[in-house]
Amino acid sequence: MKKWIYNESRQTGVDFESENEVKEYDEKYKTVRNYDEEVKFITRSIKLRPDSVILEIGTGTGEHAIRLARQCRKVVACDVSKTMLRYAEDKSKKAGINNIEFINSGFLNNDLPDRSFDAVISQLALHHLPDFWKSAAINNISRVLKPEGIFYLLDSIFSFDVRAYDKVITGIIESARNHAGERIADEIIVNIRDEYPTYDWIIENLLIKNGFAVESKVKYTDIMSLYVCVKQL
Ligand SMILES: C[S@@+](CC[C@H](N)C(=O)[O-])C[C@H]1O[C@@H](n2cnc3c(N)ncnc32)[C@H](O)[C@@H]1O
Repeated sequence: MKKWIYNESRQTGVDFESENEVKEYDEKYKTVRNYDEEVKFITRSIKLRPDSVILEIGTGTGEHAIRLARQCRKVVACDVSKTMLRYAEDKSKKAGINNIEFINSGFLNNDLPDRSFDAVISQLALHHLPDFWKSAAINNISRVLKPEGIFYLLDSIFSFDVRAYDKVITGIIESARNHAGERIADEIIVNIRDEYPTYDWIIENLLIKNGFAVESKVKYTDIMSLYVCVKQL
């Protein structure tokens, strides 16, 4: 192992190795997320087919992996948190799913074979890496995708005027506190203070420089965007 490689298993910000954090995750988000709708959108965006092989990085509690596995040949679901993986695997067994391979690894795992996935999806996970390592992660994703494979990325990606950062962030936290509750507002604070969210113009350059074309972008809020990208030949 090279000494300079980033230790992506070390938790930054929210501790997803904590049993409590993992148990409360679905409970916390069930009021503000609709997993069925999210997966419908993913399915369309990545043009999922019955024979597709999908990689999900930062699978978390497995809600997306389980729904996707019902519609394709195989899902490889990886996460650096052993606690999350145990929880997701248990959930998938209870749901009678047997085509998900759970792997305790992350974005920087070089062991997955080249050109082996039709699509890679990652939601709310890439911001756990600093920007230099985001680039290495995107490069690795390009390596494991088949030619013209799709990378679906949803994350804390900022798209506001850099000069207005104080006003924008203060407003977003206030609005989250009023509309989504104290816990979600606190999570946004931890994300901004202790994790590595970044700007859209940084992510877009990292995607392009690592061989992707951005097919579409959806800006959900000033601090959250989705990219659907195609690996260039
Ligand atoms: C906010 S949760 C998102 C989970 C799920 N994707 C979702 O949309 O609900 C972030 C997940 O990313 C995982 N994670 C953090 N750093 C990671 C890395 N370097 N590689 C893979 N997963 C990582 C965490 O353990 C956690 O399960």
